[in-house]
Amino acid sequence: MLIVGAGPAGLTAALALAKFGIEHVLVEKYPGTAHSPRAHIVNPRTVEIMRHLGVQEEIEAVSSPHERLRHHVWYTTLNQPEIARKEAWGTSPHRKADYLAASPCPSINCPQTRFEPVLVEALRDAGSDVQFQRELLSMEREGDHWVSTILNREDGTTLTVRSRYVIGADGARTKVLGFAGLDIEGPSGLFHAANIWFKADLSRYLAHRPGVLTWNMHPGPQPPLALGTFICMNPFDEFVLNRFYDPEVEDLSEMTEEQAIGHIERAVGEPVDDIEILGISGWKVNAQVAPEYARDGVFCMGDAVHRHPPTNGLGLNMSVADAYNLAWKLALVLRDEAGAELLDTYNSERQPIGATGVDRAIKSLHQATAIQEAVGLHEGLSEEEGWEALASLEDPGPLGDERRAALRAALDKNENRFNALGLEVGYHYDEGALVHDETPYPPFEGDPVLDFQTTTRPGARVPHARLIRNGEQISTLDLVDGLEFALLVGLDAEHWFEAAEKVSAELGVQVVAHRIGGDILDPYWEWSDAREVGHAGAVLVRPDRHVTWRSVDRPTDAAAELSRVMRTVLHL
Ligand code: FDA
Repeated sequence: MLIVGAGPAGLTAALALAKFGIEHVLVEKYPGTAHSPRAHIVNPRTVEIMRHLGVQEEIEAVSSPHERLRHHVWYTTLNQPEIARKEAWGTSPHRKADYLAASPCPSINCPQTRFEPVLVEALRDAGSDVQFQRELLSMEREGDHWVSTILNREDGTTLTVRSRYVIGADGARTKVLGFAGLDIEGPSGLFHAANIWFKADLSRYLAHRPGVLTWNMHPGPQPPLALGTFICMNPFDEFVLNRFYDPEVEDLSEMTEEQAIGHIERAVGEPVDDIEILGISGWKVNAQVAPEYARDGVFCMGDAVHRHPPTNGLGLNMSVADAYNLAWKLALVLRDEAGAELLDTYNSERQPIGATGVDRAIKSLHQATAIQEAVGLHEGLSEEEGWEALASLEDPGPLGDERRAALRAALDKNENRFNALGLEVGYHYDEGALVHDETPYPPFEGDPVLDFQTTTRPGARVPHARLIRNGEQISTLDLVDGLEFALLVGLDAEHWFEAAEKVSAELGVQVVAHRIGGDILDPYWEWSDAREVGHAGAVLVRPDRHVTWRSVDRPTDAAAELSRVMRTVLHL
């Protein structure tokens, strides 16, 4: 098994495969992992995946804690009174309960520069073969294998790797996608952005309103956000100043440290002591998704197949989820415990999620301008007119009322950029490694981007419910172990225990029954409320914690039914 690329997708794939005991080699063309912070919002579903992979504590230890993610602040310059603020990522009193009920894990702020080394260390501990300075040059199909040529960038030699499967986690400049004959659709380079990564103590401007993103709305003829958005990488001494720029006018490679400091100080509004520039890098806003993620044993993931702006913080998170979706399927196929057709469900499950994510990120990007418009700032205004427009926010008369109402409405409209719980945790698969049951699914009430509605409908991530096992609080998500399928059953469960044992012996894949309400307590009735099946029914959960099937009641022959379902899902 060859994995190309040591970004969030490739590292997650490797760690999951290592956990499942699958031998692999991961090649990365650079000497180390990401050299600039890039993506940083790690949403609850990704923290859950890190928990399942055994590195939640390590990731949290290098992240800003949840409470420090709290505020989005809109400002003219950092040293001026703010225009608006909004609580994000489930930190507000109005959304906190939704997030707590949905997941055992909070979102955190973990720049790629810290996220990736944690995974590399875990891979080293797991004995995984991770090779830096190794670049994939080409891939040829030979029979049912791929022969990949890898350049050793340390000594210039090449070697070939023969593997049945290849994971293309090689980012937006992917070669693997093309070698597999796959393509990506959608526009590229809609905007160009520059990241100025720096260290400086900005606590006096931000410690009293901690958050990750601080948006500039300085009046003037320049386009909105021209002075830049401060992205907090470590409270409050490490940041990225992110600005849109025009590559026809500005050449980033020529930006001097002095110019970079000038940009930072303009956005702060005054001189700042001891700014240390750590790096300057550019990136493009794309709106692209591959119509097909996999072909002939090549599985592409992450930025290789979906590219979009960082709005909603989806880049790293969707990449990690792609990898986690594929890893258990590959592991079962490579252990000869599932038919190769199981791998087709990687595309049918993840491609629609990628397409939705790209669409959401682009919509959110456009939605951002609603805030400037609401306060009367639009392109072409002089600086003076812009200040007048902002001053009207404090007008006690009808103009002020109108502006304040418009601002409030625009902030509310942006709720689905900042508290998109449905998008982060509530995505589900309609088609794939699952068997639908006969019952109608509950209608979705609310907004699918904002709201999370628990369900055990096949394809959904199993609802999180707090349970007590051996005196310790766990989540339903913790009941799954390794490559096992977990069968969550109620008090009337003997038939399911027998069925699970029989099917495990028959197929080799372990199905482990867990009796909730008996050996495992459901003290807050959360599983009772969420399970949507009766005491004699069952919910079957896959290794990636998505529901694969459920039985509302006791079937006539539980073992035969469970065997049918497992054989269907695993293509046996
Ligand atoms: P990723 O690009 O992280 O990793 C791919 C890896 O493959 C790289 O390490 C690369 O060197 C390696 N590779 C490529 N070709 C290879 C070959 N032929 N052989 C061997 N190795 C090869 N997102 C966000 O949400 N907020 C942000 O601010 C930013 N900013 C940002 C800045 C810059 C400069 C970039 C490049 C990207 C961002 N992103 C971002 C996007 C975010 O970083 C991205 O969504 C994730 O890193 C995607 O993870 P992947 O693992 O898919 O690719």
